[in-house]
Amino acid sequence: MTLRTLDSLGALSGRRVVVRCDLNVPLNAGVITDDGRIRASLPTLHRLLDAGASVTVVSHLGRPDGTPDERYSLRPVAARLGELLEQEVAFGADAGAAVTLRENLRFDPRETSKDAGERRAYAEELAAGADAFVSDGFGVVHRKQASVYELAQVLPSAAGLLIAAELGVLERLTTDPAKPYTVVLGGSKVSDKLGVIDHLLPRVDTLLIGGGMLFTFLAAQGHAVGKSLLERDQLDVVREYLTRAETLGVRIVLPTDVVVADAFAADARSETVAADGIEGTAFGADAIGLDIGPATAQTFAEAIAASRTVFWNGPMGVFEFPAFAAGTKRVAEALTEVDGLSVVGGGDSAAAVRALGFGEDRFGHISTGGGASLEFLEGERLPGLEVLGWEGES
Ligand code: 3PG
Repeated sequence: MTLRTLDSLGALSGRRVVVRCDLNVPLNAGVITDDGRIRASLPTLHRLLDAGASVTVVSHLGRPDGTPDERYSLRPVAARLGELLEQEVAFGADAGAAVTLRENLRFDPRETSKDAGERRAYAEELAAGADAFVSDGFGVVHRKQASVYELAQVLPSAAGLLIAAELGVLERLTTDPAKPYTVVLGGSKVSDKLGVIDHLLPRVDTLLIGGGMLFTFLAAQGHAVGKSLLERDQLDVVREYLTRAETLGVRIVLPTDVVVADAFAADARSETVAADGIEGTAFGADAIGLDIGPATAQTFAEAIAASRTVFWNGPMGVFEFPAFAAGTKRVAEALTEVDGLSVVGGGDSAAAVRALGFGEDRFGHISTGGGASLEFLEGERLPGLEVLGWEGES
């Protein structure tokens, strides 16, 4: 079976449809700092409204631990959704409006419960009074949660346009991608990327390693890394990857230079050093690596621009501080130059390209799912897709 699409739901005029979106956007003191996920939910909502349906949008925001917590309220999201849809969005209880956004699903512990019966009971409550369910929160398809999994079983259900689009692109990365195929991994933790490295090693030509995780790779090669991020318990795993890559003929490119600072702060003093000389600056063993260096950024950019398929997940440095954003910016720029398919894999990297001012249309695709796109590329079974009829790679 393939993914059930909106057409499978038949005529929707006059029907009430529950739509699961991933409106988990970053907030700073109640202000949305990146509305990408809200905008990504619009095509499906427009399609349903144009078809004459009324919609009840459901989503989570953050991880509030099963109890109401004003810091995780979706109220600011309702306001922004209303602006973008150019129509009123009722917030909270379903009062029969054309568009309603319910409060954060995770205020109820049953949403994320390990107990299938509890999740089912919550899904039945969410389904009350509705005729159909559209699942469009790509960012949560790797979660077996009430509004992602059970709700799709309780009501006639189909995937929305965002999930269909995301899946279409990610399938191109796993099914016969055009070569050379380069994957760029950054972000803070190697341990978050183990599955994807494992699954991709036999499939890619080049793996570029930046971000906080690069220091565990450098340490695995015997270099001192000062006070940079280091996952000691991953050193053996990393060494094994380096050996396996060599056997497979995959090029793992590690930074040759890095930007180190004397503190984790926007105004920290900083210096560019060779990757094997991190403790050789005036900061000594207190040096903290916060970005890849310019020579590395150039090497990465050249490898990326020469590729036909590129997947990027994880910033190269602490891009939120302008002094340590150059590596991430250079990588983002190189992705815009790819003659082929360039995919930015969700979460922090998607936020980074928008924060650094790159137009979204300069990339082949910016995924709304960080964890979800990684798990997809790891070849994991994704419950939120399987329940919509998707059977995975052939
Ligand atoms: C995300 O931000 O990746 C999604 O919204 C999923 O959130 P979660 O990791 O809290 O389930």
